[in-house]
Amino acid sequence: MNILEIIAKKRDKKELTKEEIDYFVKEYTNGTITDYQAAALIMAIYINGMTTEEITNLTLAMAYSGDVLDLSKFGENVVDKHSTGGIGDKITLILMPIVAALGVPVAKMSGRGLGFTGGTIDKLESIPGYNTQISVEEFMHNVDEIGISLMGQTLNLAPADKKLYALRDTISCVDNIPLIASSVMSKKIAAGANKIVLEVTVGNGAFMKDIESAKKLSETMINIGKLAGKETVCILTNMDEPLGYSIGNTLEVIEAVEALQGDMEEDVKAVVLELGSYMLKLAGKGDNIEDNKLKMLECIDTGKAYMKFLELVETQGGDVSYINDLSKFENAKFVYPVLSKKDGYVKSIESERLGKISCNLGAGRIKKEDIIDNQVGLIINKKVGDKVEKGEILGIIHANDKEKLNDAIENFEDCFEICAECVEKPSAILGIMY
Ligand code: URA
Repeated sequence: MNILEIIAKKRDKKELTKEEIDYFVKEYTNGTITDYQAAALIMAIYINGMTTEEITNLTLAMAYSGDVLDLSKFGENVVDKHSTGGIGDKITLILMPIVAALGVPVAKMSGRGLGFTGGTIDKLESIPGYNTQISVEEFMHNVDEIGISLMGQTLNLAPADKKLYALRDTISCVDNIPLIASSVMSKKIAAGANKIVLEVTVGNGAFMKDIESAKKLSETMINIGKLAGKETVCILTNMDEPLGYSIGNTLEVIEAVEALQGDMEEDVKAVVLELGSYMLKLAGKGDNIEDNKLKMLECIDTGKAYMKFLELVETQGGDVSYINDLSKFENAKFVYPVLSKKDGYVKSIESERLGKISCNLGAGRIKKEDIIDNQVGLIINKKVGDKVEKGEILGIIHANDKEKLNDAIENFEDCFEICAECVEKPSAILGIMY
């Protein structure tokens, strides 16, 4: 087989065979196929698309390009969760301790931030001592002992996706349905759960900018799930504004802890409850979605969810004194409030641009090797539909570098469109598909 023929075939809008896809994934993962050849093929896929069969074959080839975890010792209904990425998305940190406290085994490998979106592992690492790089044995042991473990993806979990995702990020080929669907589902298949709940983000801070594309992506992933024997539910969520009030690693951990203590933003609460209630249903813990939501709220009210988070942090080496006393997290050097220059109502927020501002402050990576600054980020005081008066705080910039702070100040206010007419608050949940 020859990679040049495979590239030419896709360039000419022809369907690739399973053998051709397997060959490409195997030889790219082991380095025989170069980055520029893979880039050409990925661009041809981006432009010309893939059939359902091709997408399934690509997913399976990537899923089996490395280790596949066996979580069967935790039962038949191990449920995993994944988000297609967003701004201020700290849902995993809040949701997983809640469902673990309700008896669902949580064995979750998460990713780092990429592009303008954040990643759970970077957030967890802002807790002093928390070890995201434990061995798979320790990971399984923790799930056995306390019912939950959150760690970074091991090097050998879907390595083909790791390589291809990094490549896509450098050639403007991330926002594509066949490529996102195969990337997400390959990781989920390799991570070993047999049921999957997906948060499919939609809007100006997500890879899917409109509801039609998000539905198409969901359909594609549900279909792959069926073929792989993994029941999959997609919850479509609004990413036309950041989720919750914080963007940035330590800032999001603080928001997550407050949420677990019962003080949760309405949009965060809606997403946590919707995802969690479907996780409980798939795990065989209750068929009634509304009852499941009540169980989750009770679990927060009684402090059980918070206690489970403390147990998780302690077990993975984190210093729980920071969680018990959030003031121990040191502020960034500059904490700068941005004031509104206008009276009115927030009509829209450019979330992707806020994600980029936060990333430029140091909360994310511009290049893969960049080191994250945990302290920096943004606080969003006004969300879509909120009334705002001239001189009121729109948001707060947390920065450690004067020049970066000035850049952020220049851009922050422009992210908010303020109009004279009342604006309805958007719904956080845009649809459920299975
Ligand atoms: N999240 C993933 O895991 N993969 C993508 O391609 C996009 C979002």
